[in-house]
Amino acid sequence: MLDTVPNRPDLPPEIARRRTFAIISHPDAGKTTLTEKFLLYGGAIQMAGQVRAKGEARRTRSDYMQMEKDRGISVSASAMSFDFNDFRFNLVDTPGHSDFSEDTYRTLTAVDAAVMVIDGAKGVESQTQKLFEVCRLRDLPILTFCNKMDRESRDTFEIIDEIQEMLAIDVTPASWPIGVGRDFIGCYDMLRNRLELMDRADRNKVAESIKIDGLDDPKLADHVPANLIEKLREDVEMARELLPDLNPQSVLEGHMTPIWFGSAINSFGVKELMDGIGTYGPEPQPQSAEPRQISPEESKVSGFVFKVQANMDPKHRDRVAFVRMASGHFKRGMKLTHVRSKKPMTVSAPVLFLASDRELAEEAWAGDIIGIPNHGQLRIGDTLTEGESLRVTGIPSFAPELLQNCRAGDPMKAKHLEKALMQFAEEGAAKVFKPTMGAGFIVGVVGQLQFEVLGSRIELEYGLPVRFEPSQFTSARWVHGPKEAVEKFTNANKQHIALDNDGDTVYLTRLQWDIDRVERDYPEIKLSATKEMM
Ligand code: G4P
Repeated sequence: MLDTVPNRPDLPPEIARRRTFAIISHPDAGKTTLTEKFLLYGGAIQMAGQVRAKGEARRTRSDYMQMEKDRGISVSASAMSFDFNDFRFNLVDTPGHSDFSEDTYRTLTAVDAAVMVIDGAKGVESQTQKLFEVCRLRDLPILTFCNKMDRESRDTFEIIDEIQEMLAIDVTPASWPIGVGRDFIGCYDMLRNRLELMDRADRNKVAESIKIDGLDDPKLADHVPANLIEKLREDVEMARELLPDLNPQSVLEGHMTPIWFGSAINSFGVKELMDGIGTYGPEPQPQSAEPRQISPEESKVSGFVFKVQANMDPKHRDRVAFVRMASGHFKRGMKLTHVRSKKPMTVSAPVLFLASDRELAEEAWAGDIIGIPNHGQLRIGDTLTEGESLRVTGIPSFAPELLQNCRAGDPMKAKHLEKALMQFAEEGAAKVFKPTMGAGFIVGVVGQLQFEVLGSRIELEYGLPVRFEPSQFTSARWVHGPKEAVEKFTNANKQHIALDNDGDTVYLTRLQWDIDRVERDYPEIKLSATKEMM
């Protein structure tokens, strides 16, 4: 008996059928392959291979993209929409490399659930663990896909134990693998009492599904070799005894993850996972905001920017703000209020990201992701509404962990450099600090690789060669406190003070000791390592 999650009765059907999620995984676990199969079954592409092929065509466009390819990372995130059964899936891509964790964090603020992909031979790897921790901060529901079961993989109980122990989450098997490595023939669907058999000959063929009447059904012997039947019966009996049953509420609360076993490249287990996302994944969730929470079913439209991507087409200098719709039914041409500037904004050319290409979005519902091309008005953290002064919260900006001085190769081009840096700062690609004393800029990032990406993008997109040099500072903290106290503090510490790209005051330092000293000497001053984007 399938235990389904009742839809919240107050949600309009169009919203209730939306599932907005991201895939988290360690590089090489199979995220790209799985995405491709999702799109294939979602009818968004005709043939497996297109996503990668398209990725490559795009990447040849520039050296920067070449760099992305060389390093095997995906620097830019995007969103893809497709339909499956009765559901509309919005898949938001997360950058895979750990140097882009801030970007990833913000991407995860735009989704309601995550699919965690692990490699059956490797189990929980470092990047999976980090991303999982980010999801946990938001109590995101997680569905797990254990991939590459067509190869030698670890023992099923061992994999499940590892997830339970390393990630401190209950794991319930939604399917159970039959055979390992070359002997792997498919899975027993624990939720539907079915056999799913993999076809090794045709990678794009959907598994054959055979209804059985429990594991004592004699029909089993027609499909599963005798030596595997015994093991399957034992395993499933033990699993039912030792592992928790699927509890949909617990999944929604992020305390339990159902796990499906499969092989993305062989299209095996993917449909069952998609069914699972539809059935157990959450509908669009309420969004925390000030002064009140936003509910998806509200008739008025609202949304927030979680990512800005500049220069998607270097010839046009366009920027696209990725907006997660938080409530209502948006229609193209609507006039929305840009809450930060209080200015109206007619959204006439929103785009929806279908895998085949960008398409004009005629409408969007709460849960959807649309792209709004703009000239820089829209920044990360901005809220759009139909007039009400609401501000979505919980989109943080982290203090960078690495700081470097940045100079234009040609000193006459300092103004150009400022413009380029500010643009990247708005995109969220770096923090830019302008010291109150002395010239030049200090650029802050989370990972070393971001300096390289920035350097090549500034050169490529603005024709400006730049140099990064070591800075005397290693940390930055935002300064908060009553106005007079902040003035007194900044006047006495001028050589440590800078303004960030939003004009907020920052204290730059080398040592934790300095930070402790400030907190001791200036009790009214608070130094913080995060700031809300607004
Ligand atoms: P990623 O986005 O998580 O980094 O992983 P990606 O999908 O690119 O997959 C990484 C490698 O694993 C690819 O091989 C891919 O073909 C392979 N792979 C994905 N799913 C499965 C699976 O179910 N079984 C097996 N055996 N392999 C799988 P590659 O050699 O790096 O690339 P390619 O030459 O196949 O394109």
